[in-house]
Amino acid sequence: MANFENILGIETSCDETAAAIVVAGKTIRSSVVSSQIDIHARYGGVVPEIASRAHVELLTPVVAQAVVEAGIENEEVDAVAATYGPGLIGSLLVGVSAAKALSLVWDVPYVAVNHLEGHLYASFLEEPELELPLVVLLVSGGHTQLIHMKGHGDYDVLGSTLDDAAGEAFDKVARYLGLGYPGGPAIDALAMEGDPEAISFPRAMRNDGLDFSFSGLKTSVVNHVRKNPDVDAADVAASFQEAVADVLVAKARRAVKQVGATGLAIGGGVAANSRLREAVLDACTEDGLQAFLPSRAMCTDNAAMIAAAGWHRLHSDGPSRIDQGAESSVRL
Ligand code: KG4
Ligand code: ZN
Repeated sequence: MANFENILGIETSCDETAAAIVVAGKTIRSSVVSSQIDIHARYGGVVPEIASRAHVELLTPVVAQAVVEAGIENEEVDAVAATYGPGLIGSLLVGVSAAKALSLVWDVPYVAVNHLEGHLYASFLEEPELELPLVVLLVSGGHTQLIHMKGHGDYDVLGSTLDDAAGEAFDKVARYLGLGYPGGPAIDALAMEGDPEAISFPRAMRNDGLDFSFSGLKTSVVNHVRKNPDVDAADVAASFQEAVADVLVAKARRAVKQVGATGLAIGGGVAANSRLREAVLDACTEDGLQAFLPSRAMCTDNAAMIAAAGWHRLHSDGPSRIDQGAESSVRL
């Protein structure tokens, strides 16, 4: 098989329009992320129809910028990888169609990438020597999963959320507290000024299995604020964040022990959370585990992680068929 060097990654699964050039699944030559946050903020969340229209407008200049910043010519792109799911179907279609068109025009392979697999590969971009097997705590706006990464492309899902994803809980609580969208970074910032022990919010299923549940916690926050209208919002944010981090870390530690892994990595937008990062580091130090915390830019949606996962997919499975389309709800 050819040695696909320069992979163009394209990511449009939600509200970031992103493109990147990554060499051999490891070295980032460019990573451009154009966020649509300002477009959606006034609606308090992502509006799917507006997101797909914005991707149509933004994708061409974002791809061009990624190629220019990488210092290569279009002819030097060896393959095009795009997120095909999970995500918003209209948004996914924009990236997938563009990737297929470029692969046909440039006569290079197209590879369809699972967005969740992309998040798993974010750690490898910054720690190329990362050793498998590994447990990855994948926490984003749409997913909360504990994954046993046994080898490249070889995963067991050990636990998942039964209701809300961790990021969804951050976004819903932030909206209730009037902190706007996106909620995760807003709660993270406000929590810095609050007391994480001020309110003892419930830790659902903390000591029970590897699945998660966050909808009860969200309801508890709402009930607490209703009963105590003068409560300090910073204390609510810090106590809520503490409860989420506590459950995530307790389960991740249990998962690592259960499968006998030696390392724990985190990924997905919520992995950018300051308190979660601190708690993961503390737990790994205490348990003698290697901790892998991608930079914040690699935790949230980007195309470099898609290019990296695409490179591994190309080498394991070869190119995707050109009729491999977008799918809104694929699993890992
Ligand atoms: O991975 P991501 O960028 O997109 C999805 O694939 O969902 O994750 C977005 C989620 C949002 O729910 C956002 O509020 C959350 O990640 N998030 C955070 C932080 N930064 C982003 N949650 C907590 N603390 C943060 N600092
Ligand atoms: Zn994501």
